[in-house]
Amino acid sequence: MCGIVGIITSEKRNLVPEIVSSLINLEYRGYDSTGIAILDKGAIKRVRRVGAPSDVFPPEEISKELDVSESGFSLAVGHNRWATHGKPSLENAHPHFDCTGEIAVVHNGTILNHETLKQELVKLGHTFTSTTDTEVIPHMIEQKMKEGLSLKDAFLDTAALLEGSFGLAVISTKEPGKLFIVKRGSPLLFGILKNTIIAASSSNAILSYTNTFIPLTDCEYAEFAIKGDEVTYRIGTTFNKNQTINKPVETITDHSLADISKGGYESFMKKEIHAQPSVFRTTILGRYDEKTGDAVLGGLIDHEDTLRNAKGILTVACGTAHNASLVGGALIESLAGIPVRSEIASEFRYKKVPLDPKDTIIFATSQSGETADTLESVKEAKRKGYKTFGVINVVGSAIAEEVDAGVYARAGVEVGVASTKAFTAQLAIFYLLAIKFARERGMTAQEGRALISELEQIPDLMMKTLADTEKRVIALTERYTAKNIRVINFLGRGINVPVATEAALKFKELTYLEAGSYPLGELKHGPIAVIDENSVSVILMPHDELFAQNKNSLEQILSKNGNVIVITDELGAQNLKEQNVDIITIPTLKHPLLYPLLEILPLQLFAYHYALALGNNVDKPRNLAKSVTVE
Ligand code: AGP
Ligand code: GLU
Repeated sequence: MCGIVGIITSEKRNLVPEIVSSLINLEYRGYDSTGIAILDKGAIKRVRRVGAPSDVFPPEEISKELDVSESGFSLAVGHNRWATHGKPSLENAHPHFDCTGEIAVVHNGTILNHETLKQELVKLGHTFTSTTDTEVIPHMIEQKMKEGLSLKDAFLDTAALLEGSFGLAVISTKEPGKLFIVKRGSPLLFGILKNTIIAASSSNAILSYTNTFIPLTDCEYAEFAIKGDEVTYRIGTTFNKNQTINKPVETITDHSLADISKGGYESFMKKEIHAQPSVFRTTILGRYDEKTGDAVLGGLIDHEDTLRNAKGILTVACGTAHNASLVGGALIESLAGIPVRSEIASEFRYKKVPLDPKDTIIFATSQSGETADTLESVKEAKRKGYKTFGVINVVGSAIAEEVDAGVYARAGVEVGVASTKAFTAQLAIFYLLAIKFARERGMTAQEGRALISELEQIPDLMMKTLADTEKRVIALTERYTAKNIRVINFLGRGINVPVATEAALKFKELTYLEAGSYPLGELKHGPIAVIDENSVSVILMPHDELFAQNKNSLEQILSKNGNVIVITDELGAQNLKEQNVDIITIPTLKHPLLYPLLEILPLQLFAYHYALALGNNVDKPRNLAKSVTVE
């Protein structure tokens, strides 16, 4: 949620192109407004605009607007906003200033006690120009500097008084050769180049310049200073300002620049949908043993006894990661016979869950590894004595660091705000986990081997599914967007229900239309009232043991004049060919529990093409951000 960037260099140059390109690489984190501030000839100049940097921040125009002096400049901060307090508007866009315009701050996160702080500052005579929570920060720094503190002490004392989450960067005309950053809750790191340091919310922002970086952990700050030809850095903590912390320089190994470019596709989402076959292959690679028919998950190796003795599993996650956990729960229950309870993280963290931490283990799933609700749930679970495990995509992210152990999803960088490849990668991990739990309990080696051998086929079958269904999906979306469709529901039974829920979530995120998802048998208990000729029911019904029940429910929808799209396998398609339904055929699988891996693909494409037909931005749907680091 939101991206911040700060650049400090001992050279003098026009930093606008660099800061804008970093902001563009952080755009997935927030894109309702953009701003940069530079320190030039003793003053801070700022440009802010409503919109995403790639749309509203052409570097040449911005350089002109900032009237960059010929000699260039050395210090700049930038921000992509995802508004939490105050509408997306020019006044609310970051960087925010103090009363004098001598201090500029960019902030990622939320300040929970901003109202109290603002009241105090207003009493002291400070004037506010925005309705953000952030603006208290430059005014607090200003106040403390007025009272005699240095920029650094004022900044760190201010950070200590803030409740909530923050990644902050500050510059001031009072100390023109310095940049300070601090974090609590929101991610922050810095890359080290010759003569230049670039601090940012994510390594995506620095990849064009360097693949070495130092990540900050909570309550750490860094001060950067221009000293002659060099830029020096020093890390400390907010509770012990004078103690220097030595941290190793890390290398970005899990992604490259190619991962954050569209690579010939018209959108990141399209690229990521089509990456799923290879992502799936990468995710399972080396994580099973064909001979023993078992999963081999290195990240869990030190916790074998805990896993073997677990009598219950609790999953916590949000959004798509929760839907993947629901599929995972169904898999583990039916293959290993362990009861699984799945909680939405924003509920779990405030709820009494009567399970015994002694024999219940927790799986927290998150693409970003930053989601505040999931992170807090893990902390809460640990407080209560649970062992916590992660299914996380971003290596070294906050949740990955917080859990006791885990398995990385290996989906690579996911830029499209609507999650696609991370979902199927999370499913891949849950298939492996289910096999592992099952092999420790009733599952035979032959059963394990059969399942693994079919998992090995999945990448090819995913490729076939994408190739065979996309044209059909486009034709259907063209037909339905031209009609006056009022209601769209995604339906299925058993393990297909959470896939239907994920399909509905994708559809809502991208089309901005309300979509429902229900267990198919539940339709007759109420939701069927909405079915008429202006409704579409998308039914996930492979030819499995519940096919007859599904067909019965399908007839009920048709009898109410509803439009029906069926996602089914070859046998199912054959069986339904006389029905007045649109069929999307996916390959036939031996093991019915594997269908979610193929079913979701045409459904992602359905949401994608429906949204394109409506003229929506598929990579950056309105009101959303890629990682939700706030409550
Ligand atoms: C998915 O398309 C969403 N944008 C959203 O639901 C997301 O899955 C959720 O916010 C959880 O994110 P995480 O996996 O990074 O924790
Ligand atoms: N809470 C701040 C605001 O609404 C920062 C939001 C963000 O992280 O983008 O401006």
